[in-house]
Amino acid sequence: MSSTKTISTIAFSTVLLCTGLTSAFAADETLRSLAEERHRYIGAILNSEWFYGNIEAEFEQIHKTQFNAVVAENEMKFDATEPNENTFSYDKGDKMVKYAQENGMRVRGHALAWHSQVPGWVNNYSGQKEKLLSVLKNHIDSVVGHWKGKVAEWDVVNEAVNDEYDAGWRSSNSVWYEGIGPEFLDSAFVWAHAADPDAELCYNDYSLEWGLREKSKASFVVEQVKRWKENGIPITCVGTQTHIEISHETTPQNVRALAKALAELDVTLNITELDIGFPKGSADQLGAADYAKQGHLYRQFMDVFLEEPNMGEFVIWGLTDAHSWLDDQQGKTQGLLYDKQYKPKPAYDSIMVSLKAHPASEVKSPYPSSQFNPPCEGDGCGDSPDAVVPVTASKFSAQISGRALFIAGAKSAKVDVFDMQGRPVFSAKNVKGSVELQGIAEGLYVVRVRDGSASLTKRITIR
Ligand code: G3I
Repeated sequence: MSSTKTISTIAFSTVLLCTGLTSAFAADETLRSLAEERHRYIGAILNSEWFYGNIEAEFEQIHKTQFNAVVAENEMKFDATEPNENTFSYDKGDKMVKYAQENGMRVRGHALAWHSQVPGWVNNYSGQKEKLLSVLKNHIDSVVGHWKGKVAEWDVVNEAVNDEYDAGWRSSNSVWYEGIGPEFLDSAFVWAHAADPDAELCYNDYSLEWGLREKSKASFVVEQVKRWKENGIPITCVGTQTHIEISHETTPQNVRALAKALAELDVTLNITELDIGFPKGSADQLGAADYAKQGHLYRQFMDVFLEEPNMGEFVIWGLTDAHSWLDDQQGKTQGLLYDKQYKPKPAYDSIMVSLKAHPASEVKSPYPSSQFNPPCEGDGCGDSPDAVVPVTASKFSAQISGRALFIAGAKSAKVDVFDMQGRPVFSAKNVKGSVELQGIAEGLYVVRVRDGSASLTKRITIR
């Protein structure tokens, strides 16, 4: 982005925030709709306890309206999916996959080979290399195989680099490294690819946002990715978790540098667990300036994300400050986009402003546009980012109210509704004035209205 554009967009953002104009955007514009127009994914974690009446009603409505990607906070981890040897437990993960499918969301799978959240029975095999190899292979074959075609991307290996800043793997407190050695990483990628050749496969870690310095985690990971690519190990993406604090002002540009280094290797960089916390206990003292600062930092991450062509997913580790691992397990608080009452914070507005400041025509995507566009057979359709905007200067308009779609200016229209994965979910001919969109779950859709040669395509939310 040019410096002029940067200054003007920061100014716009600041004006918005200072005037308190939270959510001063068109009602049908969401983070999700703007991300989809840019062929990108924006996500937030999900927990199997967090829906179907187990949580405040706002949660699910916001989650599926604002996000198009989902990650299970815990339920796809080793201890959750294989609590006893060769006995698999998929119910909770299935519940989330079903929710994602119903709402046209992409699923990230987290995480296959990780030193943490390993069930006790695995540790009984400590140091037994052949046994641990077969345990890990069986786990990956089974879990990736179970969700083949449903989980788009896996964190194949999570947090395998140590915290010593000596360019080395985590060699203690890891049953996999201690028993197998570093080849567990290579094998995990090969097995995951064999189980689902179409899934994207990531290496995921924290502290990658601290920059490409000598012996830093980021530099070490880039070197490893280079080696993996040279040796034909099927890695396609790196995840930077990015659990940061409000004072970590240099981190967005460090993420930009990492994206550029990985672009050289033809690998995607995803932000996989973003939260920007304040020190725990400070919540009562936080004021507008603090939240504006938090918003500015979120905004910078979104700017980087949209400006680097090899970035695909922007995932936040939570939705509301009412439910966040920061308060329970970290010395941090208030790190998410929504406050405890589900009110969008300046952070929400800031990333919205960033999305709007980066027009779809200028944002490149690592994903094929077919992942985002509904099928299209008429004039003006094509495999281009423009396929979901009106193809004819609209001689008519369409508005949704509840389940009623009102069409003005058309004599007899054909109405087709598609989910966010482009699957047809509703169709009606000879529509005059309005049509009731029955049999469709609540959520975000694309409606296409045609009358003669005129066609209008727009996003709608069914509530
Ligand atoms: O499942 C047990 C339950 O049976 C028991 O009753 C309960 C009592 O506390 O604990 C439950 O397990 C908890 C589990 O979450 C599921 O709720 C663990 O104690 C708790 O430690 C665990 O925390 C998770 C943490 O990973 C574990 O490492 C957090 O929710 C989760 O947000 C966090 O996520 C990690 C990512 O996977 C990797 N990157 C860092 C990130 C934050 O730590």
